[in-house]
Amino acid sequence: MMRKKVIAGNWKMNKTLEDSLKLATEVVTISNDEVNNNVQIVMCVPFTSLFAVSNIVKGTKVALGAQNCYSKSSGAYTGEISAEMLKSVGVQYVILGHSERREYFGESNALLAEKVNIVLATGMTPIFCCGETLAQREKGIHIDFINAQLTESLFHLSADDMKKVIIAYEPIWAIGTGVTASTAQAQEMHELIRKHIASKYGNEVAETIVIQYGGSMKPDNAKELLSCKDVDGGLIGGASLKARDFIDVIKGV
Ligand code: PGA
Repeated sequence: MMRKKVIAGNWKMNKTLEDSLKLATEVVTISNDEVNNNVQIVMCVPFTSLFAVSNIVKGTKVALGAQNCYSKSSGAYTGEISAEMLKSVGVQYVILGHSERREYFGESNALLAEKVNIVLATGMTPIFCCGETLAQREKGIHIDFINAQLTESLFHLSADDMKKVIIAYEPIWAIGTGVTASTAQAQEMHELIRKHIASKYGNEVAETIVIQYGGSMKPDNAKELLSCKDVDGGLIGGASLKARDFIDVIKGV
């Protein structure tokens, strides 16, 4: 089964509207010339830039993503943004459960299960993040920890819905640190995640699901990481903030 590689840029809390337009335009222009169709490119931009960037990416190789959404469909939730609102400005992908949201905003596996449901019900693709801390890895409890993240936030889904989810494995010790998981570590974890999915949904579903790696993926290590059998793409933070770097990561596919 050939899974299409998906490379998503996660701009995090960076770029004003003006800077967003510039970066998005550069990515669209360069990807048009240099990237072939075997890879899906996604740019997950701040809420304030979504609508404007949606006009730039329309009809190009780049799809639009958001970095979060609220778990309820509408109502008195001051300051929050719903899945329907995201969809209405052209969003196709939504990052959920990034480790920064889990750590700084207290997002639990149970809350993320609700967010996954609402994103799927709205017809968008969740990019569901999981990953362990260095302390958990050193204690040898990282695999159980990740399996629990997957079980508690995703395993209530039907097989059909599960197939629509993208999983991003992001070891927290590799995010923004310059330290990347080795290819052996990445491949091992991706294979274990796929096995865990197979234990609940069977091989056909497990083999369909795109599992991205995230954590200091850059032009000089992307090719190696993306060559791993079970690594189906990347979630790119720092290297997605410069068009040249982002495109060079994508060209590692
Ligand atoms: P990084 O971030 O590429 O800067 O390590 C990845 C992420 O947090 O998604």
